[in-house]
Amino acid sequence: MKIAILIGSIRQGRQSQKIAHYLQDRLQADDLDIDLIDLAETPLPMLEERVGKHPQLPQVVQELSNRLHSADAVIMVTPEYHGSFSGVLKNALDYFYSEFSRKVIGIVTVSAGKFGGINAATQLQQVILSLGAFALPTKLLVPEVYGAFNATHELTNEHTLRSAQKFIDDFRWFASAIQEKKQQTTVNI
Ligand SMILES: Cc1cc2nc3c(=O)[nH]c(=O)nc-3n(C[C@H](O)[C@H](O)[C@H](O)COP(=O)(O)O)c2cc1C
Repeated sequence: MKIAILIGSIRQGRQSQKIAHYLQDRLQADDLDIDLIDLAETPLPMLEERVGKHPQLPQVVQELSNRLHSADAVIMVTPEYHGSFSGVLKNALDYFYSEFSRKVIGIVTVSAGKFGGINAATQLQQVILSLGAFALPTKLLVPEVYGAFNATHELTNEHTLRSAQKFIDDFRWFASAIQEKKQQTTVNI
């Protein structure tokens, strides 16, 4: 099973990439194939038209479309900005539909405060439904991110470690269930 991890933070001094790298390491240790998509390294222009409708689709968007299509399931990592998920992530999502539809998507949100980006997570769930995808009910919220990792970027917060384990277990269960269903069915997806 191939998993894309999409990092929706490009801020200077950003923190969200730390939990993305933690999940990458954990899932790779479970023999999953991980494609880490960092929007800081894959900058997309502001949306002028979506994939399939754009007369001259930027190559970077086509390449990202191909990477997302090849993923069986996706994890989206986003900071909470002004009570929602990041604008850079929304801009990226608006290019796509079929790249996500009928896939399990896990939501990971990050905040400097105590609430872990719950508002961003709830709003992202709604957007994921609009993409025709299955939002994993178990969300991974990372509160107080500046203290959650040590100097070598290891996750040390006990509560977040437990939350991450449950998130990984549930993500793998749902992603595998959908993948098995797709292997059994002849419906064209
Ligand atoms: C523009 C902006 C808006 C923010 N709004 C919120 C917010 O609404 N709620 C919150 O808990 N934290 C908020 N924060 C703090 C972020 O959660 C914190 O900076 C966190 O590190 C975000 O992840 P990042 O480092 O990847 O950008 C905001 C930060 C920025 C830069």
